[in-house]
Amino acid sequence: MDAGGTLIKIAYIKDGQLELRKFPSVKLTDIAAWISGHFTEVELCVTGGKSDLLQKLLDQKVQQIVEFEATCRGVLHLLQGKEQMPEEHVLTNVGTGTSIHIVTKDEHFRIGGTGVGGGTLLGLSRLLAEVGDYDDIIRLAPQGSREHIDLKVSQIYEGSVPPISGDLTASNFGNLAHDPVNLNPPDYLASVIGLVGETVTTVSVHAAMQHGLSTIVYIGSSFIGNEMLRKVVADYTILRGAVPVLLDNGEYSGAIGALLSIE
Ligand SMILES: Nc1ncnc2c1ncn2[C@@H]1O[C@H](COP(=O)(O)OP(=O)(O)OP(=O)(O)O)[C@@H](O)[C@H]1O
Ligand SMILES: [Mg+2]
Repeated sequence: MDAGGTLIKIAYIKDGQLELRKFPSVKLTDIAAWISGHFTEVELCVTGGKSDLLQKLLDQKVQQIVEFEATCRGVLHLLQGKEQMPEEHVLTNVGTGTSIHIVTKDEHFRIGGTGVGGGTLLGLSRLLAEVGDYDDIIRLAPQGSREHIDLKVSQIYEGSVPPISGDLTASNFGNLAHDPVNLNPPDYLASVIGLVGETVTTVSVHAAMQHGLSTIVYIGSSFIGNEMLRKVVADYTILRGAVPVLLDNGEYSGAIGALLSIE
């Protein structure tokens, strides 16, 4: 189990198959009851910030593992069998917040992160567009346009040739100061996704440069069904000269790592 700030992820083996489930962390008591009801004679291992809280609600004996250890182990498992597996990479986990790790053959360590992450996506969407539900955000955002909210480099260099790509964002939300027009909720949602995506990519690309790495593996529930965030992150990573890998089921890395570490 990976008891995160927003979602609890659970990985288990049933009839030889890996099963993956997720639940909102606010329902911790219900989840604990579900776990105790479903898994009686099993070994349990938990990771994540809410490990202690969850453990206290469970009747069974529970092992604990450090979050970053579990996440890296799970990611290496999910990367197995992938063509051109990027053994050495930057690992960016866009959870409630964003955590960045360096993974090499011999070691892995957390180098930092940013408070801009999935929680920012939920919070700013609620504040600006009055849309608080994740599924509504990802459904509505693609109908929006960032044009009147974000300021592009080409708009600053109006009438001349910019020294960098004019299509780059010069200032997230910076256009609102110049060009106040009628905006719809989806426009704000699109720009919030742009802000989150470009911020996590920038921080990740700088980490990659600093450590001489070219591949960035992105995980975290913020990418679930979120085509717009996936595209912003993938395109911007490529534009900055790195290789993005958006790992399928990456949001379950911590839970899978916890499962694999059961003794
Ligand atoms: N069903 C959902 N409900 C709420 N948020 C969701 C949902 N699906 C995806 N998300 C997004 O995923 C984010 C949480 O990602 P993730 O589950 O990786 O984080 P976490 O493990 O709970 O947090 P952290 O690792 O920072 O403690 C949310 O902030 C939101 O943007
Ligand atoms: Mg997490």
